[in-house]
Order: sequence, then C-alpha cells, then structure tokens
Amino acid sequence: MLMHHQTVRQILPTPPAIAQAPRLHVAIISDGNGRWASSRGLPRSAGHRAGAETARQVIAAAPRLGIHTLTLFALSSANWKRPAAEVNAILRLLHEYVLTETTHCIEEGVRLSIIGRRDRLPVTLRQAISDSEAATACGTRLHLRLAVDYSAREAIYHAACRFYKVTELSPESFSNVLAEVHRGGSVEVDLLIRTGGEQRISDFLLWECAFAEFVFLQKRWPDFNATDLEAAVQEFAKRERTRGALPDALAG
Ligand code: IPE
Ligand code: MG
Repeated sequence: MLMHHQTVRQILPTPPAIAQAPRLHVAIISDGNGRWASSRGLPRSAGHRAGAETARQVIAAAPRLGIHTLTLFALSSANWKRPAAEVNAILRLLHEYVLTETTHCIEEGVRLSIIGRRDRLPVTLRQAISDSEAATACGTRLHLRLAVDYSAREAIYHAACRFYKVTELSPESFSNVLAEVHRGGSVEVDLLIRTGGEQRISDFLLWECAFAEFVFLQKRWPDFNATDLEAAVQEFAKRERTRGALPDALAG
C-alpha cells in the first residue's frame, strides 16, 4: 500500500509552490528609488515615478500568485524629514495613482485602502483617497493597502493610548483597535520583501510582522518586477514556518 502511494506521488507532477501557500499577505518595503535615479543621472523624483510603474506591475501580478493582501510602503512618516519637493513629488504620484487607477481597481476586483495618518496629507488627496476607498470597497480579488505617512510605532502607541484605563486587554482586541487607528485592517504579514539592499524593517508593520518571513533583495525597487515577486513567493513556500513551535519533522 505504501509502495503504491509512493508510486502515485512519483507519477503526479509536482504541484506549483503556490498551491501550498495560497491566500498570502505580502508586504513590500519598496526601497531604492532615489539610488536608481541618481545612478542614471536623473532626479530622485524620476526614481519615484519609475517605482510607481513597478508598483502597478506588481499589483497586477499579485492575485495570480495567491496574494490576497498586498501592502506597499509608499511614504513613511519618517520621510517628512526629506526635502518638501521630494515628499510632494511622492504625494503627487499617489494622487495621480488614486485618480487614474480607481476604475481599473473596480474592474479588477481590487479593494484599495490607505493605511497611515491622513491629517498631514493635502485635503484634495484625502478626498480622492476616501472616494477611491468607497468606490473599491467591494473588491475581493486583492486588498491593496498603500502605507502613506505610516509609522507602525505611532499606530501601536495610539492604539495603546485608547486603552490606557483598561486593565485587561486581549491581543485580539488590541489588534482590532490597532486596525481602527490607522484603518485598512490589521492583517498578519506572511512575507515581507525589502528591495534596495538594506536589511531593516524601518517602522513598517511591526505588529503584523511578528511571524513574517523576510526576503531582502539587492535590486532597487524600479528594477523589481512580477518575476521577482513570483520568485520571492516561491522562496517563501520553501520556508518552514514554526511560529515558535517545533518544525513538523520534530513535532510528535
Ligand atoms: C523608497 O526609495 C521610496 C520611498 C521612500 C518613498 P528611496 O527614496 O528611499 O530611495 P533610496 O533608498 O534613497 O535609493
Ligand atoms: Mg531608502
């Protein structure tokens, strides 16, 4: 019987890696735009524009790779330390994205959420964001979360402040409050990808990445493409996720 079983397994084609790990939340720290541009003698804003194009391609490729939630780090709260012209260029690209892509998102079943603070964003951008979020709310193929003026530490701090008189608090209810604080939900990250060569988390999704698998790539974000995303997802599929328990081979 065992022999028979083994034979059947040998005959069957190996299922694609994705079949073992569908329904992923992939988070990406899309780093390296500025260096990509500088190395070509271009202004940093050109790197951000190229990065936005990469984002479009990656978003389009995500659903077929089993990704149900894709969180992209578009603008960190720490990025306000950059020259206003650069931050404004990034915000303009975001505004352009929201205005031009909403219809496409609806057609493709993509629900768009912006996570992060909104009070420091231009009013017109804020309005465009809420219009797009409302218009795409029914999308179920992909939940696209763009982190804008986002600081994970600040989100956790504000969520904790809401509870400062509460003595007992379950991690689940805390997670729900965290989701409310910066909107867009609080979804456990399966795979965190960072492009651009640095190996750090930069205040991104600290709570949600507790058990995430990390893939760090030298490639700068504008050079990243759907094939790289697929390779990262395949790399993820090879990892054994124990969440602190024993690997399957050792568990009784
Ligand atoms: C990441 O690229 C994009 C944002 C922070 C918005 P960078 O702008 O950090 O590019 P490098 O790291 O300077 O190359
Ligand atoms: Mg950087």
